[in-house]
Amino acid sequence: MIILGIETSCDETAAAVVETSEKEEVLVRSNIVSSQVKLHAKRGGVVPNLAAREHLKNIIPVIEASLKEAGVPPQQVDVIAVTQGPGLIPALLIGVNTAKTLSYVWKKPLLGIHHIEGHIYANFIGENLKSEILSRVLGTKQEEIKFPVLCLVVSGGHTQLVFMKEHLSYEIIGETQDDAAGEAFDKVARILGLGYPGGPRISIQADEFKKRNTASTITLPRPMINTSDLNFSFSGLKTAVLYLTKKNIRKMRQKKFIQEVSHEFQQSVIDVLVSKTIRATKEYAPKTVMLAGGVSANKELRAQFERAIKEHTPHARCVMLAAQYSGDNAAMIATAGAYRWQHMNEKQRKSYYNSWKNLQADANLILPS
Ligand code: KG4
Ligand code: ZN
Repeated sequence: MIILGIETSCDETAAAVVETSEKEEVLVRSNIVSSQVKLHAKRGGVVPNLAAREHLKNIIPVIEASLKEAGVPPQQVDVIAVTQGPGLIPALLIGVNTAKTLSYVWKKPLLGIHHIEGHIYANFIGENLKSEILSRVLGTKQEEIKFPVLCLVVSGGHTQLVFMKEHLSYEIIGETQDDAAGEAFDKVARILGLGYPGGPRISIQADEFKKRNTASTITLPRPMINTSDLNFSFSGLKTAVLYLTKKNIRKMRQKKFIQEVSHEFQQSVIDVLVSKTIRATKEYAPKTVMLAGGVSANKELRAQFERAIKEHTPHARCVMLAAQYSGDNAAMIATAGAYRWQHMNEKQRKSYYNSWKNLQADANLILPS
């Protein structure tokens, strides 16, 4: 089965073609992402109406390129999956309305996908096992990921611990009370004069400090690390960085100071994320633990998360997604669409041929339970 995925919830215009194999493994045939980062960097963050204008300009060429690269003509597409929400409404509308038009003209079923469901299903992409021989030796992602699953979702808009008893079922067992982890990275990067997007830039600065192999002289708080719940808070940490920089205005010109603050800030976020995930594994006893969302591209987070799961939860296995699918992309949306389609009966499937009539972009879409 062939699924065309479309994603325009924020500042990436993305389209991808995935194919499900006989073993229900999802293979990526093309994954095109046209990033608007340069445009928004000048303004220090994403401007929704500008994002929408760029999506409008890019959406058709990006979809065309994804079909061409996959070698798939429109008539071979079985299902279209599009990000329905949450996200910036002017941006979402471009993807949703394009998908609705294609669904109507091509007479293909259309699925609206929750953006976070997409991020979670990036873990089920089996591209790294593309070779048939390799996949026979290693098994498929389907076999590797055993339920129940615990997923730490860390993106620009969300920080959530999501518990999944089975496919497509989500229970949010912890979440941020204020800023998301990615948002904190972006805001702290702005305070430190590193620009947008903050996450990758802070990570580079933190690496420079690590290379020096000296102990940190700065200590930032680890908010909520000892609370008995599974929630997070990052806004106080950002304020702590702001006060620290105000107290050290002269040092702000020194590269070494910026590197040290970046390192301590990143470590504080990682400590809290890892510690709450371990706490959740004790309460919920998952068989698989995973990461998802843009912040999961962070090298240190990936390494420390994997190490901590191995050390503290011998009964759970950590499955790490390929970093190329951490940030916003359409392969993850198509993959979630593939699993949704696989779990439907014929009658349900039929109804989606008409969903172009009423599918609505929803900036505040709730993750289905
Ligand atoms: O999932 P995503 O691409 O978009 C949303 O759904 O929000 O996540 C974007 C977020 C941004 O806040 C960005 O700064 C952060 O992910 N990010 C990172 C890294 N790469 C992207 N944060 C920390 N380290 C990184 N390497
Ligand atoms: Zn995202």
